[in-house]
Amino acid sequence: MYRTHYCGKITSDEIGKEVSVCGWVQKQRDLGSLIFIDLRDVSGIVQLAFDEATEKSVFETAFAARSEYVMRASGTVRPRAEGAVNKNMATGEIEIAVTSLELLSSSATPPFEIVENSDVKPELRLKYRYLDLRRPDLRNNIITRSKIAKETRDFFSENGFYEIETPVLVKATPEGARDYLVPSRVHPGSFYALPQSPQLYKQLLMLSGFDRYMQIAKCFRDEDLRADRQPEFTQIDLEMSFADVDDVIDVNERFLKRIFEKFVGIEVQLPIKRLAYKEAMERFGSDKPDLRYGFEIKDISEAVKGSEFSVFASACETGSVRAINIKGYGDKFTRKDIDKLTQFIKSYGAKGLAWCKHTTELTSSFLKFLSEEEKNNIFSICDFAEGDILFVVADAKNKVVFDSLGALRCHVAAQLGLADKNKYEFVWITDFPMFEYDEEEDRYVAMHHPFTAPKDEDLQYLESDPARVCAKAYDIVLNGWEMGGGSVRIHRRDVQERVFAAIGLSPEEAQEKFGFLLDAFKYGAPPHAGLAFGLDRLVSLVLGLDAIRDVIAFPKVQNASELMTGCPSRVPDQSLADLSIAVTKTETEE
Ligand code: AMO
Ligand code: AMP
Repeated sequence: MYRTHYCGKITSDEIGKEVSVCGWVQKQRDLGSLIFIDLRDVSGIVQLAFDEATEKSVFETAFAARSEYVMRASGTVRPRAEGAVNKNMATGEIEIAVTSLELLSSSATPPFEIVENSDVKPELRLKYRYLDLRRPDLRNNIITRSKIAKETRDFFSENGFYEIETPVLVKATPEGARDYLVPSRVHPGSFYALPQSPQLYKQLLMLSGFDRYMQIAKCFRDEDLRADRQPEFTQIDLEMSFADVDDVIDVNERFLKRIFEKFVGIEVQLPIKRLAYKEAMERFGSDKPDLRYGFEIKDISEAVKGSEFSVFASACETGSVRAINIKGYGDKFTRKDIDKLTQFIKSYGAKGLAWCKHTTELTSSFLKFLSEEEKNNIFSICDFAEGDILFVVADAKNKVVFDSLGALRCHVAAQLGLADKNKYEFVWITDFPMFEYDEEEDRYVAMHHPFTAPKDEDLQYLESDPARVCAKAYDIVLNGWEMGGGSVRIHRRDVQERVFAAIGLSPEEAQEKFGFLLDAFKYGAPPHAGLAFGLDRLVSLVLGLDAIRDVIAFPKVQNASELMTGCPSRVPDQSLADLSIAVTKTETEE
């Protein structure tokens, strides 16, 4: 037996006992006649002590110990000398007087020191991810993730869900993100796709009669990476039969309550509030609003639509003019700050940022162009008073106004320190539009996915006015992050065919791509609904982290490569030949 105890678990209760521990040398301090070694394992650190009473050969082994050597030590637990007690350490009251010390494996000098919050270049940390994972903060993230996954399985099992695995080699289907493709050796020229989500399989499991399904599932999407996205990520995926919006919301908010109460220690008030998509956009400029602070968007189009100021008046013809009042913070923004904010919102497509500020005097970039009445109307709509600063965006496209003011609202709140890490504002966003218009493809695409059920009262507009059709879809948002999303599904063949037609799939294409689903609907489909959480995002929100890669053991970087193993990589020509694949371009030739 290697050990009797984990390093971090030895307390004063063990004083006088003989123990054995194993781990890595965190640090060795040589004080001449005294040597101390901090030994680290998964549970924490314990201090090993060597002094005049220590046998010579043991003392010599301790003398030779270096950082990250793997060692096994046995000895007696004793209280630390007075003055050497470390209250900040779980094992800070004791040490082990070592009688035997064994080197299990030595270590080269690591490329960086293994300490919490170390300031090391991210690329280096990722290259040596296995060393980085030794750091207590990162290790804690991964362990918390494991505990959340277990709690998730327990919760859904208690609520009647069966965990069922679905395939990883699946049929490539259009819609959604780009697929990762896997060539088939047996069927030259044919490909599997890696699943973007288990969506269709989980629906088919409902048709099979399993009633409630859940799975912690790997998903793959070949999309351009953003800070909160990974090409492979994990979902807590679930589906329920004979269920409607309220059923899905009910079980999932009870789940969130359990997770956040257990792992964050906060009380989550149920029911979680709900906000319709349209209202979320109009008030917060986003379908994942951060509700930790105010600064709601106000529509001032009515006040300026007849204005002589053509920037405002012309925007109102097809778009709008909207404003946010950063109430009480007027004195926090200099002209230079405003210039920076103007640059910031331009990246969201806005053409300019108009502002007015009432501190000691009233200053503004645009009031001079407006009549007294227009000005007073704006002030009244925005509740603008002394101490405030108002930011205005006008654009012929509402999307630009919402995107830029929505982003500005969060940016400014973060700058003012109002995005309080200790506040948890959950909100369900409901009543999403069924379709959005894709300008590049010049057609409607499903906003969620094309298996989402339109609202019953909107079915009549599927052909005549797709833009006005609302979906039975919902997202769960926390502090401005989308944690999960789902919908009630279509369970009737005729409705599914009409939705495929609305996104431009011909009946033949629909049959070729999704024939298995359409056929399945012929044999008795229960009404069903479901949702998927991003597990990576959920864990990072529980831990108060911004980047999901800090909760993934082996994440990929921006260009979808993994720095530790160096994938993706070339493969031997023979492997390609076996797959009947000819490579026409490689990275170095680009
Ligand atoms: P959706 O595409 O909204 O829904 O995904 C659900 C949740 O998964 C997370 N997520 C991601 N996390 C990390 N990296 C990514 N690239 C990534 N993409 C998505 C988000 C998101 O809210 N099948 C449907 C669910 C359903 O309808 O039941 C689906 O996949 O947190
Ligand atoms: P100009 O007449 O272009 O000098 O603009 C006068 C003010 O209106 C400046 O503060 C501009 O930043 C602002 N402005 C210009 N275009 C827009 C726009 N699309 N939305 C909001 N403000 C704008």
